[in-house]
Amino acid sequence: MEKKFKRTLVTTALPYANGPVHIGHLAGVYVPADIYVRYLRLKGEDVVMVGGSDEHGVPITLRARKEGITPQQVVDRYHAIIRDSLRDLGVSFDVYSRTSSQLHHETASEFFSHLLEKGEFTVQTSQQPYDESAGEFLADRYVTGTCPRCGNERAYGDQCEACGSSLNATDLINPRSALTDAPVTMRETTHWYLPLDRWEERLRSWILDGHKEWKTNVYGQCKSWLDSGLQPRAVSRDLNWGVPVPVEGADGKVLYVWFDAPIGYISNTKELLPDTWQTYWKDPETRIINFIGKDNIVFHCIVFPAMLMAYGDNFQLPDNVPANEFLNLEGDKISTSRNWAVWLHEYLADFPGKQDVLRYVLTANAPETKDNDFTWADFQARNNNELVAILGNFINRAMVLTHKYFNGAVPAAGTLSDKERTLQADIENVKQRLAAALDTFHFREGLREAMELARLGNRYLQETEPWKLAKTDMEATATVLNTALQLCADIAVAFEPFLPFTSDKLWQMLGMDGKPAWTMLGQPELIAAGTQLGQPELLFEKIEDTTIQGQLDRLARIKEENKQASWRPAPQQPDVDFDSFMKADLRVGTVIECEKVPKADKLLRFLIDDGMERRTIVSGIAKYYKPEELVGRQVVFIANLPPRKLKGITSQGMILSAENSDGSLCVIAPSGPVAPGAQVK
Ligand code: 2FM
Ligand code: ZN
Repeated sequence: MEKKFKRTLVTTALPYANGPVHIGHLAGVYVPADIYVRYLRLKGEDVVMVGGSDEHGVPITLRARKEGITPQQVVDRYHAIIRDSLRDLGVSFDVYSRTSSQLHHETASEFFSHLLEKGEFTVQTSQQPYDESAGEFLADRYVTGTCPRCGNERAYGDQCEACGSSLNATDLINPRSALTDAPVTMRETTHWYLPLDRWEERLRSWILDGHKEWKTNVYGQCKSWLDSGLQPRAVSRDLNWGVPVPVEGADGKVLYVWFDAPIGYISNTKELLPDTWQTYWKDPETRIINFIGKDNIVFHCIVFPAMLMAYGDNFQLPDNVPANEFLNLEGDKISTSRNWAVWLHEYLADFPGKQDVLRYVLTANAPETKDNDFTWADFQARNNNELVAILGNFINRAMVLTHKYFNGAVPAAGTLSDKERTLQADIENVKQRLAAALDTFHFREGLREAMELARLGNRYLQETEPWKLAKTDMEATATVLNTALQLCADIAVAFEPFLPFTSDKLWQMLGMDGKPAWTMLGQPELIAAGTQLGQPELLFEKIEDTTIQGQLDRLARIKEENKQASWRPAPQQPDVDFDSFMKADLRVGTVIECEKVPKADKLLRFLIDDGMERRTIVSGIAKYYKPEELVGRQVVFIANLPPRKLKGITSQGMILSAENSDGSLCVIAPSGPVAPGAQVK
């Protein structure tokens, strides 16, 4: 790719510090950004990667309220977890900061004041939901009430999850505060708005004419926003957590989290490079790349660019915004609140030393063009069938054979044959294709190309069979192993962006000095003859079924917990008239016998004393009771149902049970002893 820029600034979406980061964040943003940055560094380019935690916004205040701690305590906790876990995965930030820092507050505040002075805002007054008892305005999400469309009594002010309609808080019937459950009132409030409509034409030509090379998902979303016309957007909120609006009399108002968060990219750069940060933001020879997930597209392609244009002072707009789609987990949407995620800090604890396995799987399965699914079965298969069987296997064979035949010293190559020359050409082609993929943010394809090197290596050893050659021709064996070891070193270079821990280990094992560089890839004498190799250690190990089952069990437990937490009583049935109800003959009976029905794991057969005779009833509660527990107990049954055959047994009635939130059944019984046959009224 023609190089027209002097330097690159890579930004990564700032994760909210109201929870740890999970595989969705990694696959969408941090792993691809890290691959890209490592690749540029490998090429010796001037590149800086900035990130940090997004520590403002309503969800953080709510979590603090729920836990009875301050918002600062919430963000302190999660910022540390996020920062450390990303570092431990090898995500190589040059700076990882946070938006609660003083430098960020000053930077965001100054940004706002500058726009205010330039007359870039309008001021508008509107009615907003207010919680009188908490004395706070409420974001739409924190108003609950009855959905006007479907009658669901637990709809949110922005959306009804029962019928999927998107709503405004003012649409809800009987709106209540999610904070205190108090009825919601409406109050007038004033905010500053950024008139995006003023920037519409410039945005349109910058993106739609100037950036046709952007990913189709990004370009398409921008086009649809621009085509439907831009509106002014409020950039302040009534909240007491965030960057205070720097205007006299604006007490209780802060900058909207989506106004200050992207400015975080600027503050982070300032923190890293206090003297030269402006070069990375204002010099047209800097290229800015924003790595984000698809839910952030409008803010990075429309709102933040409008803010930068409004600021002026030569701030540069991003050159590319390679947004990814979403990663699901075992077929369901990842959700922080439902704990449906693989959390990075937990993964690192459960799979010590296996950072690269996760990086590999998330890249091989990256949601680059559509939503993708992470499954533990795929994780295991990719580890066992690709990392172990292809990559690890090739390296191990080359190392072990060199130890066996040459005491671990790289043998000098003799005369090269067509096989070596073809291999050399193949490596060169892979290098070109790998570069082309990485230059254009196609990381899955890039990884496939890097893996092609290991495939070439396995094929080469298979065809040359040095273990046979060594019996007759040591010179030819030396050539083959020299060639194979050159390829091992190539692999260490090519995989550095993707699997940095493995690349490092391999580089050491090969006895190489210094660090890998892109120009080394494909050099015929990258590893010098005579170099003493380290002991061959396995780069990857098989992951067993039991390990995977442990993760699946954890997810199954979470699913069960969620099911119970979201359990609601079934809606009331339509009215039944009194006479019809009275026709059901409900009675108390005493259990005389109870036993399992053979070949029916749900059924129990009862013999009931109903006061007149003994009747048989079959009931589907075998999973919840041992038969002997029920003998002697009294139950309530319907006496006048027509007899029904179940597994060959005629059941003369139905025992009543209540269904619990976990689906288990609990037999209904009178609260004290009653004569068998007593009617229930
Ligand atoms: O969607 C999110 O998780 C946001 N916290 C991303 C912010 S990106 C940037 F603008 F800071
Ligand atoms: Zn609804």
